[in-house]
Amino acid sequence: MSVIEMVREEGIAILTINRANVLNALNTEVLLELKKVLSQIKEDTSIKVVIITGAGEKAFVAGADISEMVKQSVDEGYRYSRLGQEVLALIENLPQPVIAAVNGYALGGGCELAMACDMRIASEKAKFGLPEINLGIIPGFGGTKRLTELVGKAKAMELILTGEMIDAAQAERLGLVNQVVKADKLLETAKTLAQKIASKSQIAVRAAKLAVNKSLYTDIETANACEAGLFGVCFASEDRKEGMMAFLEKRPAKFKN
Ligand code: HXC
Repeated sequence: MSVIEMVREEGIAILTINRANVLNALNTEVLLELKKVLSQIKEDTSIKVVIITGAGEKAFVAGADISEMVKQSVDEGYRYSRLGQEVLALIENLPQPVIAAVNGYALGGGCELAMACDMRIASEKAKFGLPEINLGIIPGFGGTKRLTELVGKAKAMELILTGEMIDAAQAERLGLVNQVVKADKLLETAKTLAQKIASKSQIAVRAAKLAVNKSLYTDIETANACEAGLFGVCFASEDRKEGMMAFLEKRPAKFKN
């Protein structure tokens, strides 16, 4: 069985990280497989939304694989960090929105993986944390930046410097997760959100993701220029005509793209 399982449900791809015996820890094999699968998804316009989750009851992903890292040289450790950053950037820059369905522990690289997704739905059993400090290291898959963006500097500092875990309710209060649901409703909730997004104009969905992402790491003038350009792309689409006509004719829109 592959370390990444992919199930297609109409326009939605559900990826499951499948190493339950080690709480889905991310080793090089998982990262390379994720890279491969994401590169295929990127080119596949029939996939409109992606959901990422972890196998088993206990963990989303409990971090980078410590038994692999313990053997790494300094150079290998650096390259491992860069590989993880590259794979998570692929998620962030994927044209399709990505939802993390966090079913349990999301620690270290696992929390970083969840943060690279566009939205996070958490089971009430989920726990989040960046415990790297307890191993004598720091987050290495983009977590120092993404956590700071999501929760602000003071809370990011506290989580990174203490390495302590927080539960799903605390994560929701911090803005780290969008919604907390009962464990048996997790995938259903993620799928409902995915289907809602999949029913929209995909030109507009992709433009919106790109505009929001670009806005994060740039100044307001550049962000506005980017937004206006993407707005123009949507405006030129058949879906724009359909969406506006449907509103005026008081009927649901039937988007083509
Ligand atoms: C390798 C791991 C692992 C990990 C768990 N396991 N997390 N193996 N890497 N990150 C393995 C355990 O060794 C164990 O294997 C099995 O999974 C079950 O875990 P237990 O510890 O027995 O479960 P439990 O007592 O319930 O504790 C759950 C836990 C704990 C609190 C999540 O496993 C834990 O603290 N894990 C490590 C979390 C962590 O530090 N993550 C950050 C890693 S650093 P056996 O063979 O004994 O059954 C990181 C850096 C990212 O992510 C950037 C890199 C560049």
